[in-house]
Order: sequence, then C-alpha cells, then structure tokens
Amino acid sequence: MTDTITIRRPDDWHVHLRDGAMLEAVAPFTARQFARAIIMPNLSPPVTSAASAAAYRERIMTALPDNPGFTPLMTCYLTDDADADDIAAGHAAGIFTAAKLYPANATTNSAHGVTDVAHIMGVLERMQAIGMPLLVHGEVTDSDIDIFDREAVFIERVLEKLIAALPGLKIVFEHITTEQAVQFVDSAGPNIAATITPHHLHINRNAMFASGMRPHAYCLPVAKREQHRLALRKAATSGSVKYFLGTDSAPHEIHAKESACGCAGIFNAPYALESYAAVFDEEGALDRLEGFASEHGPKFYGLPLNEDRVTLKRDNFAVSDKLQAGDATLVPFHAGSELIWRIVQA
Ligand code: NCD
Ligand code: ZN
Repeated sequence: MTDTITIRRPDDWHVHLRDGAMLEAVAPFTARQFARAIIMPNLSPPVTSAASAAAYRERIMTALPDNPGFTPLMTCYLTDDADADDIAAGHAAGIFTAAKLYPANATTNSAHGVTDVAHIMGVLERMQAIGMPLLVHGEVTDSDIDIFDREAVFIERVLEKLIAALPGLKIVFEHITTEQAVQFVDSAGPNIAATITPHHLHINRNAMFASGMRPHAYCLPVAKREQHRLALRKAATSGSVKYFLGTDSAPHEIHAKESACGCAGIFNAPYALESYAAVFDEEGALDRLEGFASEHGPKFYGLPLNEDRVTLKRDNFAVSDKLQAGDATLVPFHAGSELIWRIVQA
C-alpha cells in the first residue's frame, strides 16, 4: 500500500476568498496548499473592472504576509454592460486571467450577472480572439426548472449554442455536478474543460437531509443523485486533461449557514487537497492525482507547471467541528469526520 505521495504543488482553479476580515481569515488555508488560485469575483459589489481586480489582488496579497509566493489569478465578473476594451486591456496587462459568467441570480452575489448571453456576445468574441478563458456557472435560473435539473438544462439551452457560435472560445464549465456535464465535456473539443469540487466527489444530495437538514452540505450547484457523483468520480480520476481541481471553497459565517434561509457554499479550503486525495485513493487512482491537481489546469490555461512539490502521508486525523477565523466561526467540509491523508510538507 502506498503510504506517501509527492506531487507538484497544485493550484486551485476556482475559489472564493471574500474580502475584509473574512479574506484575512480564509486566504491562508488556500495559500498553505496551492501555488496559484483562480479568484472568484462575486464580491459585493462585484469585481467588474481591471482597476478593481488589481486593487482586490493587492488586498489578497496583504492578507497573506506569510505566503509571498502565492499567486492570485484574477477574474472579471461579467455583466450585461461588460466592457470588452477594459477586459481585453486587463488581460493584456496580466490583471485578468479569465472572465466569469454568472447567469443573473444563479447564486450568491450574482444579482448583477448576465441576464442573456446575447448581451455579451461582443465581449465573448473578443475573448475568443485573444484566447481569454470564459468560466461558466452553468445553471439556468428559471424558477420553473427544478433546481436539480438546472445544470442539465443549461447545457441544452445555453452552452451548446454558445460553443456553436464561438467554436474557438476557451470555456471552463465550473464545478460540474451531473453525468450530463461529464458527457458534454467529454464530447466537446479541447477548448472545453471542467473543474470538479471535492464535495461533489464526496457527497450526493442525501447529505443535505441526513437525519435532519444539513445546511453545511448545501452549495450551488446543489449536489445531485448518487449516479452523478459516481460519474464525477470517474471523470476526475480518468486521467483526462479536461478535468482539473477547483474547490469552489465558499465560506459563509456559521449564522449565515444555520439560518431560516441559509447561504449556499461549502468551506472546504482547510483540507482541500486531503479531501481530493481520499477520493483518488478510494478509486485506486492516486497515480492520477497529480495530473488532476497540478498539471491539467496549467496546461489548459497555458501557464507553466509549478516546480515545487507537496508530500501527503497516509495518516488519519479528525476534522474539527468548527474553526475560529478572527471573529468568524466557520464549519469546514468534513467537520466531525476523519480524513485519511495529511499534507506533511506544505
Ligand atoms: C458560492 C458563494 O458563496 O460565493 N456559493 C456556492 O454555493 N458555490 C457562489 C457560487 O460559486 O455559486
Ligand atoms: Zn464558486
């Protein structure tokens, strides 16, 4: 049995670091493990200009005095009024790595999102021309579509049309949750990839209702049936370069989760790599963890591979029920249960 694995340092291709005191509290968890991270722009107000992204990047680095080697890769939050010139200039200046499409009202802080992709076709054409990736929250928002079907319906109604109209656009289908998404990504060209979260590999929708309502298992896109979780595990551990690590770590204070209308988001940053390692181990695919965590993402984004390494050791440990992060109390993913791999050299 393998008891130690050493891989290139991974990157997190989808994370919510928030702002202010929460940023200071959560960013070190991400920087402990990852060399780079794609930073989600759904602040309030959202990060919609190169100037606001540059300022946010500064705040992130200020929050990480002990991790000067960490690189935040910034994204632009697309709105109906997105400015193609500012986005292209921000990309050329190395401020924007990618742009994020949130369908309006799909999730936390997405009220300013895009109401119809038709409104941003000019921006997307420019992104295709300059090779700038589009990151997609792939859910329709129509209240008449069942919440468990919103990703599959988005593929039919939006994504298929988008890739037909812009066949050269690089697209990352973020935090996929269904077998339909896996089939779509597998059958699309090399410019279409997907991130997969640790929680969608570990839990199915029953986790939200295990002997009571479990707000800490609620995120968007919501976890689906077991058959979908199994399809995601197969995709993540397949070795396909189309799939890579994106935690979607989305912290909310405990009172915002444990509420009559609790926020969507799972805070998995504290033990993200350990969480993925457990899945790859269970699937007999530890030899493929490095590709998923550290190689497929940079290759898709056209960035160099990280040269330093992290080592994980087989070592059971209990994840605490709560973490105190400054004034905030946060409940981490896997709270109260055990993980079987631990980072020993971070
Ligand atoms: C995210 C958040 O809280 O910002 N929540 C989530 O459940 N993933 C938003 C998002 O990525 O959908
Ligand atoms: Zn997210």
